[in-house]
Amino acid sequence: MNLKIGIIGVGMIGQDHIRRLTTVLAGASVVAVSDVNGAQAETVAAGIGARCYATGEALIAASEVEAIIVTSWGPTHATYVLAAIAAGKPVFCEKPLAETVEDCEAVLDAEVRHGKRLVQLGFMRRFDSQYRAMKETLRSGIIGAPLIFQSGHRNPSVPGYYTANNALTDTAVHDIDTARFLLDDEPVAISVKSPRKNSRGGALADPLLTLLDMRSGALVTIETSVNIAYAYDIRGEIIGETGVVTLAERNDVVVKANGVFSGRVPADWKERFSTAFDTEFREWIAAARAGGATGPSSWDGYVATAVTTTGVKAIASGAREPIKLRERPALYA
Ligand SMILES: NC(=O)c1ccc[n+]([C@@H]2O[C@H](COP(=O)([O-])OP(=O)(O)OC[C@H]3O[C@@H](n4cnc5c(N)ncnc54)[C@H](O)[C@@H]3O)[C@@H](O)[C@H]2O)c1
Repeated sequence: MNLKIGIIGVGMIGQDHIRRLTTVLAGASVVAVSDVNGAQAETVAAGIGARCYATGEALIAASEVEAIIVTSWGPTHATYVLAAIAAGKPVFCEKPLAETVEDCEAVLDAEVRHGKRLVQLGFMRRFDSQYRAMKETLRSGIIGAPLIFQSGHRNPSVPGYYTANNALTDTAVHDIDTARFLLDDEPVAISVKSPRKNSRGGALADPLLTLLDMRSGALVTIETSVNIAYAYDIRGEIIGETGVVTLAERNDVVVKANGVFSGRVPADWKERFSTAFDTEFREWIAAARAGGATGPSSWDGYVATAVTTTGVKAIASGAREPIKLRERPALYA
């Protein structure tokens, strides 16, 4: 029997996940959708033969819905995740878990009280084969203990409303989670610097260079360039005590012509991470069918928000800001 899924928020990524669940992956059916834009919800529901619910809460409560995907706007996530936990249903939530540390903590408390993981966060890089190979390499011991992780996140352009704070909360948040995932380490402090501005971004402070001090003493640098024109390019290298591991260029082919060799750089995050999203949902469907979750947890969502909100403070202060984390509950060991 297919897992019966309800999706709250059927905008850009909600619709992309519907495409993935209905045309790429097996084992799940989208039976319900809800969106504050009722007309959009009706159109999407009609396209896949799903039922349209007037509110996210009604969708979560519906007996036909076995698992929930939350792809609405960030400030609405925590309310729906809490309702899903109260209903005892597995819930996949795109980042952020919540925009404030307090709201993230409310989710941690509710899930811990429930006694079992139900929540999975949408940090899809953890399902990317290249990052997984990087982690495996580190685990094998061949490059020794990690000293530095350098992450690069380059976007061709961003809309006019995008701010330097967005560079942390919407963009670098993925690099922050990746650093924690790869290094099995937690950040203890954050500093954010910017060089002279990329003239393509007007008044926007771009690029940003974020430095995370990790508990082990390792350092993480994150370059966030959001107006770099040439393509969407994700860089990563871990420097260890005896070697380095670097994300390779990921082309299927290299073209050699006219005296140069070349390959494609992805146009955007959808192209770069499409396989990672597929794997993410394949593994989530399996876990949700068993009544739970896998991979990035509420704890990871909580830490991400704690780091980005402290980072926003660091942008304003220009100082190195300590990151305060509560003790990790045993549920997330
Ligand atoms: N993992 C990733 O790399 C990634 C990529 C893109 C977006 N996201 C996250 O996904 C979320 C959605 O992003 P998007 O780009 O699809 O945005 P979007 O604006 O295209 O879609 C969001 C939809 O949610 C609906 N909505 C808003 N509030 C609602 C509510 N209270 N109840 C029900 N529906 C509501 C809106 O009407 C809209 O249709 C954001 O939190 C974003 O950060 C993650």
